[in-house]
Amino acid sequence: MSGHGAAQPMTARRSGPLTGRAEVPGDKSISHRALILGAMAVGETRITGLLEGQDVLDTAKAMRAFGAEVTQHGPGQWSVHGVGVGGFSEPADVIDCGNSGTGVRLLMGCMATTGLTVTFTGDASLRKRPMGRVTEPLALFGARAYGRKGGRLPMTVVGAADPVPVRYAVPVPSAQVKSAVLLAGLNAPGQTVVIEREPTRDHSERMLRGFGAELTVEETPEGHVITLTGQPELRPQAVAVPRDPSSAAFPVCAALIVEGSDILVPGVSRNPTRDGLYVTLLEMGADIAFENPREEGGEPVADLRVRASALTGVEVPPERAPSMIDEYPVLAVVAAFAEGRTVMRGVKELRVKESDRIDAMARGLEACGVRVEEDEDTLIVHGMGAGAVPGGAVCATHIDHRIAMSFLVLGMAAKAEVSVDDGSPIATSFPAFVGLMRGLGAELALG
Ligand code: S3P
Repeated sequence: MSGHGAAQPMTARRSGPLTGRAEVPGDKSISHRALILGAMAVGETRITGLLEGQDVLDTAKAMRAFGAEVTQHGPGQWSVHGVGVGGFSEPADVIDCGNSGTGVRLLMGCMATTGLTVTFTGDASLRKRPMGRVTEPLALFGARAYGRKGGRLPMTVVGAADPVPVRYAVPVPSAQVKSAVLLAGLNAPGQTVVIEREPTRDHSERMLRGFGAELTVEETPEGHVITLTGQPELRPQAVAVPRDPSSAAFPVCAALIVEGSDILVPGVSRNPTRDGLYVTLLEMGADIAFENPREEGGEPVADLRVRASALTGVEVPPERAPSMIDEYPVLAVVAAFAEGRTVMRGVKELRVKESDRIDAMARGLEACGVRVEEDEDTLIVHGMGAGAVPGGAVCATHIDHRIAMSFLVLGMAAKAEVSVDDGSPIATSFPAFVGLMRGLGAELALG
């Protein structure tokens, strides 16, 4: 099953040592936010290192439909001529966010306090995902939403012409929900307050401040209390997007499990709200050095030197989940090559990602000869040790880029080749994946 176009099967075979430099693309979360805040500033924002994956291109197209001028000047180099907070015009057509939950939820947030009426849709994966988690807080501002049963897309959002500010405690750990409320708060008068019990990625907070919004974060017994003063004039910025730690995870994990590997992944964001996978891999015994730590574009970054390692299974603490929520699929693959069990609890949010990622990983790992246990909120992988995973299966990706890349990584170290039924969704976040992995020495074929 593919998103928009034809399915593209792909196959990975046991590979020789992976070596060389892996220049992974720009951070997806930061790329979406740079385009959106650029469109809400007055004047020209310049972006370098923008991820040119389909998810982000769909957000760029949406910002044009809202009246911003968005131009590509060269690879990763973009400018956005913003229309100011409250300056959006009504899109002439339905906004299609493709595969992107982040895109659609952030866009709903930024139009919810504008008095515009906008209809959103997406691909077959996105049309299954819950939007109520965003439209409920947006209703507090005065916006109304009309969607399919269960709060699914297509959905029409009628923005509040006279929005009121909101105080909202986010019930699930979700940076998308937090960010949608903050973006809506930009065009509401007074102070909008978002409370999050478990901290999630903080790119919106960092970037809002960078664009000149008044935003404070207080640590209280209730959790993080984020207060945003509405109706600022956002100042255009030069945004340098760091490389995506969630995309870096794929070459990093491949290098750990393919015998003899030694790679360098330069310039990867080490934002502590995104670092959970790397903390976990170190606990498993991974040989990863964080070289040349520095700051780029307001984010801490480092060059990652990764060598193949003998790994041991671990218990991942549930409170770490928000800082590695997108990395559980590839961690499950690494866990299959470790000695002993890896226990991942508190992961039920994985069931409402681009696919039900607990189910997709469990079925694919079983097909590859790995024993797993799962319940609603848990995934346990019984490791088989380095080089011992049988493989030899075709795994279903369910229009999910991270499931596709995870099973291809598994195939690079398994005994028998592993295929995925459709690798085309990889283009949503990591269009250069195949070329980059082949450049390191991975045996990866289309078909
Ligand atoms: C994202 C937040 C996370 C993550 C997604 C990107 C963001 O989703 O899974 O890939 O950019 O805010 P949730 O907010 O639903 O946890």
